[in-house]
Amino acid sequence: MNKNNYYDKISQIYDQTRWLTESVAAEVADFMIKLVSATPKTSFLEPGVGTGLNVIPLVKRGYSVTGIDISEQMLNQFRQKLNGTPENLTLVHADASQLPFENGSFDVVLTVHMLHTVSDRQIFLNEIDRVLKPKGFFLNCQWITPPARREFEAHFRAIQSKYESKHSNSAPESKSPVHAIEEVDLEQYLRTKGYQSNYFIAKEWKVSNTIAELLDFYKSRAYGLCWQVPQEDYNKAIAEFEQFCTNHYGSLEKVISSVAKFEIWAYRHPTSPSNS
Ligand SMILES: C[S@@+](CC[C@H](N)C(=O)[O-])C[C@H]1O[C@@H](n2cnc3c(N)ncnc32)[C@H](O)[C@@H]1O
Repeated sequence: MNKNNYYDKISQIYDQTRWLTESVAAEVADFMIKLVSATPKTSFLEPGVGTGLNVIPLVKRGYSVTGIDISEQMLNQFRQKLNGTPENLTLVHADASQLPFENGSFDVVLTVHMLHTVSDRQIFLNEIDRVLKPKGFFLNCQWITPPARREFEAHFRAIQSKYESKHSNSAPESKSPVHAIEEVDLEQYLRTKGYQSNYFIAKEWKVSNTIAELLDFYKSRAYGLCWQVPQEDYNKAIAEFEQFCTNHYGSLEKVISSVAKFEIWAYRHPTSPSNS
């Protein structure tokens, strides 16, 4: 599936498939506000803002927030949640690989589960560096799949892989942000540009789901990993997976729980520009 319309297709169910609740997002926003010592004038940019899960609490607290996303449908979901676009929110429908903003426009740039989606990460990082104000913050964040759901996913992957062999195309979004962070070597690249870095766990919380609930996400092909095979083969994989779940978990109503983390790699922009 084309990377550009993948999120358009899943925009309506995107939030249901995630585990960042409104109250956790609010606590994380407070953590970020403290971390960057925000004042009422602090401006935030989130490229790949999606449905606004991470930044809605910042908008509600009155901060100036700009979101950019390649998927108009994801942005529409964001607007619907706020019944429109408040004055302190700007939403831009564009490819974030080149940020359509002046140099030094933002105090904070936030990326959450999006670095792995841009075609050239180095160019993208240069763009972030360019639009940040001196001493601004780049917060690269992730709230990766909690362990119980990861295990569930691994069972699904094992079954789907049996149907994959005849199809060589893999989905564009199947790599995890963890891999993306390793590939791009953010730390090293930004250090050469004079950034100082810190790592934080902003929040840990318990996530619980019934097996039936999780299965429904897979039935509606809500994740990139579900797009590895055409629909006909996918139906067979799902039927096999449902049978597996019934046997393995005992009941589709069984609840599985584990702890999720909101992690932040914070990079502080140097005062004066580097030569690189
Ligand atoms: C995994 S979602 C994350 C959304 C949001 N950051 C969150 O944490 O819920 C990735 C988002 O990045 C957007 N995206 C992917 N590539 C992009 C690009 N090159 N420019 C702008 N947005 C992009 C997608 O449309 C999608 O909304």
